[in-house]
Amino acid sequence: MIDFGFKFRPPIVQSALAGISNRDFCQEILRYGTGMVTLGGFSIDYESHKATIKMIERGRKEFVLPTKQKNTKLWCMRNLVLEKLNKHQSINVNVRFSKVDDLTKIWLKEFTKFADFIEINAHCRQEEIINTKGGESLLINLERLELLLNDIRAVLPSFPLGIKIRGYLVNDYQNFVGILDKFSISFIHSDAMLPGHNRANIKIIHDLVNSTEIPIIGNNSVRTISDIKTMFEAGAKAVSVARPLIRDPKFIQKLVKDYTGQNNHGSNNNSL
Ligand SMILES: Cc1cc2nc3c(=O)[nH]c(=O)nc-3n(C[C@H](O)[C@H](O)[C@H](O)COP(=O)(O)O)c2cc1C
Repeated sequence: MIDFGFKFRPPIVQSALAGISNRDFCQEILRYGTGMVTLGGFSIDYESHKATIKMIERGRKEFVLPTKQKNTKLWCMRNLVLEKLNKHQSINVNVRFSKVDDLTKIWLKEFTKFADFIEINAHCRQEEIINTKGGESLLINLERLELLLNDIRAVLPSFPLGIKIRGYLVNDYQNFVGILDKFSISFIHSDAMLPGHNRANIKIIHDLVNSTEIPIIGNNSVRTISDIKTMFEAGAKAVSVARPLIRDPKFIQKLVKDYTGQNNHGSNNNSL
């Protein structure tokens, strides 16, 4: 694995919220001292773009990006420029696609100008996206995932890439992380959801950590300093939070303060 410098502080991340985590939202979250913010998810191939429009038609909040190259630069200037408080903060862009087509190539290259990481969405479970063979279905068909990563690396040979997954869908950890290693993936951002319950299955984080040296960002139901500790004790290098921020973006400020307070007193050494 190439070390791309998975270094942001504090190790607390705002996880993607399609239709919500836009520039203004992420700027606010950066102001609260968060280590990494995530713009998007953005659908960046023609099929995912069409699927996203269908999702909006049935009432889901989503982002829609222009499909004409002449409009992409202006869109990026208006929607992606963020100011960091300090050099320890990072910007992540979450992207949905199942094929690297001409549209994908344009957006991938544009995003590298504004982001520190591009995060491949192997997490979305919306039917329209699954029908494009994207989102979480990439975890069921690892051959497809491998082909996709190969095509992405042809466009971005060395840009830091992460992957967002639903941990419970990975059956063969060794095979999965072997593929990610082959394409120098910088982090695995795992939603550790326990299907049917409103809590994380921490075993997922344990199993991932034990199968790879790629840093793990632990996600799902992280709400308190105690949840952060549980994720770190399982070996996660960072944690992320999403749903509480929909109603109250400031929610993350308390997590950052609690973590930083404890870390400064030496009781938690999991700084990145
Ligand atoms: C409205 C909404 C939109 C989401 N959009 C995305 C997305 O575009 N990409 C993604 O990887 N995850 C997306 N997620 C998943 C969250 O990032 C996160 O993994 C999930 O909500 C569990 O974390 P939490 O318990 O902190 O909310 C979305 C979740 C919600 C509720």
